[in-house]
Amino acid sequence: MLIAGNWKMNTNAASAVELAQGIIQESADAAAVRVAVCPPAPFLSGVRAALKGSRVRLGAQNMYWADHGAFTGEVSAQMLLSVGCHYVILGHSERRQHFGETDGGVSSKVKQAVRTGLIPIICVGERLNHRKTGKEQQVVATQVKHALEDLKKIQSPSSLVIAYEPVWAIGTGETATPEQAQTMHRFIRSLVSRQFGKNFASGLHILYGGSMKPSNAKDLLRQKDVDGGLIGGASLKSEVFGQIIHAAQEVQQG
Ligand code: 13P
Repeated sequence: MLIAGNWKMNTNAASAVELAQGIIQESADAAAVRVAVCPPAPFLSGVRAALKGSRVRLGAQNMYWADHGAFTGEVSAQMLLSVGCHYVILGHSERRQHFGETDGGVSSKVKQAVRTGLIPIICVGERLNHRKTGKEQQVVATQVKHALEDLKKIQSPSSLVIAYEPVWAIGTGETATPEQAQTMHRFIRSLVSRQFGKNFASGLHILYGGSMKPSNAKDLLRQKDVDGGLIGGASLKSEVFGQIIHAAQEVQQG
């Protein structure tokens, strides 16, 4: 089980460190759960220092696929590794929606992350109109297919993570039902199985994201193919995030 907090464009240098410290405390007795935080890029170093010696891992929210060069405003995988990142969120729907990220771009980023040893948390998910017209699996299949393109050499399912984040559930307070989440997660696992085999697919972490909070976390995390959560709003308060971590711990321990 992996519980990751996507802080999006929130916090400042001081409050980011404070939040990280709170999360270390909250997760101290939840050894069965992997915990990660993804602060804004300027605070990665400060949060890394705060996380030193803890089990909480660091992730970034985006990166560019080139090694280095004239790409003003971008950060590379190597830069993220050098400040202690373990994970990088890629293809988040907010990046697709507001910054024009395409499936092709996400694919290049995923390849670069995996090549350099960063674990991409690849976000996929349909919009409301897709779900209303019954196209949700078709849309997600296309996103997954592109994101995993040309990753033939990958051996271990722990080299990447997929997050199913239905766009209509992000920041809206509306959540996919546990059944909707399970159906899509099982579908995603079947797609991965087709490409990488059954063993790989069964070892892959598939996270749910979209208004996950303490009141619904357990029901979602109990689903067979839901292996954790990618949490936005509810990751910005350590006690609230802590409650989700503890829900995951309870589910994990059966
Ligand atoms: P919320 O939990 O705020 O809905 O955000 C989910 C998300 O986008 C995580 O990446």
